[in-house]
Amino acid sequence: MTIDSGFNHITVLLDEAVEALAVRADGCYLDGTFGRGGHSRLILSKLGPQGRLLGFDKDPQAIATGQALAAEDGRFVIVQRSFAELGAEALERGINGKVNGILLDLGVSSPQLDDPERGFSFMNDGPLDMRMDPSRGVSAAEFIATAPAEEIARVFKEYGEERFAKRMANAVVARREIQPFERTADLAEVLKVANPAWEKGKNPATRAFQGLRIHVNNELGDLELGLEAALDALEVGGRLVVISFHSLEDRIVKLFMRKLVKGEGDNLPRNLPVQHKHFEPKIKLIGKAQFASEAELKANPRSRSAVMRVAEKLR
Ligand SMILES: C[S@@+](CC[C@H](N)C(=O)[O-])C[C@H]1O[C@@H](n2cnc3c(N)ncnc32)[C@H](O)[C@@H]1O
Repeated sequence: MTIDSGFNHITVLLDEAVEALAVRADGCYLDGTFGRGGHSRLILSKLGPQGRLLGFDKDPQAIATGQALAAEDGRFVIVQRSFAELGAEALERGINGKVNGILLDLGVSSPQLDDPERGFSFMNDGPLDMRMDPSRGVSAAEFIATAPAEEIARVFKEYGEERFAKRMANAVVARREIQPFERTADLAEVLKVANPAWEKGKNPATRAFQGLRIHVNNELGDLELGLEAALDALEVGGRLVVISFHSLEDRIVKLFMRKLVKGEGDNLPRNLPVQHKHFEPKIKLIGKAQFASEAELKANPRSRSAVMRVAEKLR
């Protein structure tokens, strides 16, 4: 059941991701990005009475949907917490090192993007917020109102991969001196005017908005912490499945997995004695990077940028 209405999320790589988890009927699983529970419901359908699923999300509407599911299904629990803190949550619940599978389906959900009131959209005007959890942290409006031009430019460039980041940040800072930004459409208009090279088929504010969203939600920082915590939380033989939606995320996942396949010895400080085990792989990769099928691409254009990587913990 979905509590809020009107905005739906179509789950990406649903069967592929759950298959990759190789769900055991009596296993313990974590869904780090519950969203509207598409993956979670399929995992639950494969669990027996002893199986357990713990869901995480930052978003209050996702949490409301998760609570409704938890009320119907005693094997499921949801917490409003970042998956960056899944290690702490797993420790508190006595399951750290005992989890059979962890799924991270990164980024934002369609309801977050589509509901103008959440402030993610340059297409539909709304309050300039962009926080997955609006009760915590700094909104996009607050960041834009107070950050130095260099910091705004860094966010546009690093997280949005915007070529004209400096120019667009300067335009934002010049305008905020006259009137602060409160609405998404207002910001999108200023960015549009400041962007000298519009890409075909792309709103000229797209990259800057993406950068802001990633910054406001600390998406890359959370991902790095979440991956490390996931590795600890898994038991040997457990699976980690990560679906990314842009190259910056996928790069972090790919490098993280590559480092563990090689073993960690090469990352130890030079003056420490290195033992043989330091060069033994900590994980093995399960298959190659996987993408949405033709059929899924047709049915759900959002699946176009999805990349799934899967690893199994070896020690
Ligand atoms: C792509 S959606 C997941 C959709 C879900 N798999 C489904 O089938 O409905 C991503 C969700 O993860 C949440 N999210 C993103 N980063 C998070 C984080 N660091 N911690 C917890 N939840 C996060 C978002 O709020 C959003 O609801």
